[in-house]
Amino acid sequence: MAKSKQSTQLLVGPTPAALIACGDGKEQNIITLAWVGVVNSSPPMVSISVRPNRHSYNMIKKTGEFTVNVPREDQVDIVDGCGTISGRELEKFEHFQLTPVLGSLSNAPMILECPISMECELKHSLDLASHTVFIGQVVSSYVEDGVLNEKGAIDFERCRIVGFCSGNYLRTEPFNLKLGYTLKKKS
Ligand SMILES: Cc1cc2nc3c(=O)[nH]c(=O)nc-3n(C[C@H](O)[C@H](O)[C@H](O)COP(=O)(O)O)c2cc1C
Repeated sequence: MAKSKQSTQLLVGPTPAALIACGDGKEQNIITLAWVGVVNSSPPMVSISVRPNRHSYNMIKKTGEFTVNVPREDQVDIVDGCGTISGRELEKFEHFQLTPVLGSLSNAPMILECPISMECELKHSLDLASHTVFIGQVVSSYVEDGVLNEKGAIDFERCRIVGFCSGNYLRTEPFNLKLGYTLKKKS
């Protein structure tokens, strides 16, 4: 098997194509982000990488709040739309007929129609050359009842999320294999 050297590319993926919502009391906005990651377990923390020229950037910086909303496969048009038009030109909640719902945060709404939503409080910012990495603590998580199994866990068969890598949207199909299925963990 041969592997050829490529020009330097970011080939880490798929990452989730998530809908990040924010607000500042005057307006609410949604931005699609693929550079989204899990960075700490206790307390639970996530990172999002945002270019400073995005409309959402200032709202997140000003309020210290954002929500991470994980869309389903059939919401990929919304993902693409929220990632190609700026909130400076379009009221995205209204245009895509999405419902903003405030939970425990004062400004950043969750998106009711997404099966998974997390409310985050900004804890750290790291300015890199092109993007700022915002690290938020997840203060609450919500999951649509219809995607939970009888044990109350997310059934990824019922909740096909959207992946993204190198400019391509990817489907996610679960293996239905559980962590540690090959070798038994020795406690
Ligand atoms: C699939 C996808 C992934 C994206 N990922 C990022 C990202 O990680 N960081 C970023 O700054 N912009 C990303 N964008 C671009 C923004 O979503 C886009 O510029 C958006 O229109 C900005 O919205 P706003 O100006 O209303 O904040 C992505 C776009 C798409 C379609």
